[in-house]
Amino acid sequence: MVPIQALYPKGDGNVLGKSMLALSFAPARTITHMIKNYTTILEKALTAGGEALLQYYGKLDNFETKTSERDLVTDADRESERAVRSVIRDAFPHHEILGEEEGLETSGKGEFRWIIDPLDGTTNFAHSVPIFGVSIALEHNGEILVGGVYNPVSGETFLAEKGSGATLNGRSMHVSSVSNLSRSLLVTGFPHSDRNILQLCLQEVSYFLGRVHGILRLGAAALDMCFVACGRLEVFWQRNLNPWDTAAGWLIVEEAGGKVTDFSGSAFSPYGKELVCTNGLVHEEFLEWLRAAHDTPFEK
Ligand code: IPD
Ligand code: CA
Ligand code: CA
Repeated sequence: MVPIQALYPKGDGNVLGKSMLALSFAPARTITHMIKNYTTILEKALTAGGEALLQYYGKLDNFETKTSERDLVTDADRESERAVRSVIRDAFPHHEILGEEEGLETSGKGEFRWIIDPLDGTTNFAHSVPIFGVSIALEHNGEILVGGVYNPVSGETFLAEKGSGATLNGRSMHVSSVSNLSRSLLVTGFPHSDRNILQLCLQEVSYFLGRVHGILRLGAAALDMCFVACGRLEVFWQRNLNPWDTAAGWLIVEEAGGKVTDFSGSAFSPYGKELVCTNGLVHEEFLEWLRAAHDTPFEK
């Protein structure tokens, strides 16, 4: 027998709750109709995660390591994930939740999956550098329907709904109109664990330096993508990312008019390991340069 709590979700009012439950098994037309409700819950979850992070920001006296000495986790990561999960679970008890710290929680049919990075930019956070955020996306049968990234220190919320464009704090945002790489500002990231891969990363950086306006390494992949989406940067590329780093940013960049692929220019998947996201205009040029970088070990 199905427990009563599963039929009538707690939390945000039963009108919303009942219609959301129905949606778990609803046709695509109804899903489109419900996107605003997903966004409402996503924003609520971003706020809850952000509030949890601020409780710890600047006051952390402890951190642990995960896959390597450079892969940190803190009480703030865990507390933020608890807060985000609680908002989502209350509204959508039949949806799956995949979060970086607690893993995959399955229930129901697995048609809908929330993908959460409760704290993207943990190293920055642990050093009181205010470049970090909460990232949340809702995936439906392999497609991201809504995505949001929130930096509670800057107060910036980047949001996108499939087919409806992207916003920064409620205002429509768009990628930049820079059309060549030599006038571009790039950002990259270095994976936590693999030292061989780091060698390749340095090879790429060494090739691009001196050919572009600059290369940043901000330390928060979800925000890197949002900075491309809002036109501050032209390119973000990185290896060995995880779905929680990229799922929300993928939709945000595409809805802002940008392009996201893997390193060969093939379709991007948040479950893949390579990401190139650009304003679209410099995408092909970047992929060519990337190939050239791999053929040019450490330029002098
Ligand atoms: C990390 C950040 C960083 C990226 C790493 C990610 P975390 O996420 O996004 O910028 O280079 O690959 O793992 O660990 O702070 O959530
Ligand atoms: Ca992350
Ligand atoms: Ca994280």
